[in-house]
Amino acid sequence: MADKKAQLIIEGAAPIDLPVYSGTMGPDVVDVRGLTAEGVFTFDPGFMATSSCESKITYIDGEKGVLLHRGYPIDQLAEKADFLETCFLLLKGELPTDEEKAKFDSTIKNHTMVHEQLKTFFNGFRRDAHPMAIMCGVVGALSAFYHDSLDINDANHREISAIRLIAKMPTLAAMVYKYSMGQPMMYPRNELSYSENFLHMMFNTPCEEKPISPVLAKAMDRIFVLHADHEQNASTSTVRLAGSSGANPFACIAAGIAALWGPAHGGANEAVLRMLDEIGDVSNIEKFVAKAKDKDDPFKLMGFGHRVYKNFDPRAKVMKETCDEVLAELGINDPQLELAMKLEEIARNDPYFKERNLYPNVDFYSGIILKAIGIPTEMFTVIFATGRTPGWIAHWNEMISGPYKIGRPRQLYTGPTQRDYPSK
Ligand code: CMC
Repeated sequence: MADKKAQLIIEGAAPIDLPVYSGTMGPDVVDVRGLTAEGVFTFDPGFMATSSCESKITYIDGEKGVLLHRGYPIDQLAEKADFLETCFLLLKGELPTDEEKAKFDSTIKNHTMVHEQLKTFFNGFRRDAHPMAIMCGVVGALSAFYHDSLDINDANHREISAIRLIAKMPTLAAMVYKYSMGQPMMYPRNELSYSENFLHMMFNTPCEEKPISPVLAKAMDRIFVLHADHEQNASTSTVRLAGSSGANPFACIAAGIAALWGPAHGGANEAVLRMLDEIGDVSNIEKFVAKAKDKDDPFKLMGFGHRVYKNFDPRAKVMKETCDEVLAELGINDPQLELAMKLEEIARNDPYFKERNLYPNVDFYSGIILKAIGIPTEMFTVIFATGRTPGWIAHWNEMISGPYKIGRPRQLYTGPTQRDYPSK
């Protein structure tokens, strides 16, 4: 039901009435669907001003730097909830009771193993393949193993697929790492928490199983929480678009992983550390900041800027605190952290960055924490994908559970007009 009305006036044609809707928060939206019948399309490359769907999952106020999951602020979730609680919240809409939480944790634990035959997939990849390349392949391949949960119109199938994806992502992520190292892959252990288990599968070997540091497990868990969802970003929109054709959830999440890989999105965490390596020393910062400002130079300050946030990314604030905690606990005096802080200070006081509201985003500090934990740079975006999985599934499920249409944008065609094939 329309809350207000807008009118579109195109020169030489009668005005067109368009319904305007108000959400519970955020800007009003103009419903332009009726324009097709009038022979007009809207033009919005990069979706700068387009709401692609209605959603009840995550709200962002980019001007104020607010991020809410089902109404709960991200800093409160990062402090008080663990990752599986956040997953439950995203999927079901409410925080779990103690009983629901215990049941959810146990269900996830019972699905952490992957089909034994899936291991053979890995042998088809070079050992030096990028972990995200392998993740795209093996997550998509899950659809070849779990035929019993592929009916997207069956709510039970959707539920078990969601559980399987959340449970198996850390197992697959750790398998990718072990494969790159040439070490035996580790089986998950049910007595461990989600994040302890991930670190166990990453860093233990069958010869030696060391206890997992609670500080590192907590930091890992918080990183997963901070990545759990982020509204209609590029990868989530990709998952929705793939899902809108009726594709199965494993294929859709594989599509999301591919979209996440790019350096403008999830690949930025890897790019930040490479950039800090390249800058090398505080004395070089000015030179790199100048490069970032130069329109003729493709270099950008990785970990800076965001399509939606025109203020501090609220995830970056928590990430910075976690970074301080981890480095203090490990007694690490990382010169890269000092470099990152100096870079942040210089960039934030520079008129170019100020005028464009370019603040550090979630990826700016996550790499320093992941590095301190011992996770190699190429694995950073895989960690992001693992954390983002519940968000992707929650959005896919929200779409499939209601009425939806296949995503099919149109275009402003500027190619040749019709012409005849030349006679020879
Ligand atoms: N360094 C230098 N200049 C920048 C940067 C940057 N990191 N980000 C934006 N700008 C400039 C840009 O050149 C443009 O300037 P002008 O108006 O003079 O043409 C202006 O700021 C607006 O930027 P934009 O590219 O139009 O903004 P966008 O919304 O299309 O892009 C972004 C957003 C995140 C892709 C971009 O800021 C960027 O490439 N940042 C670096 C990569 C990065 O850190 N990505 C992680 C995003 S957060 C994690 C996630 O959710 O995926």
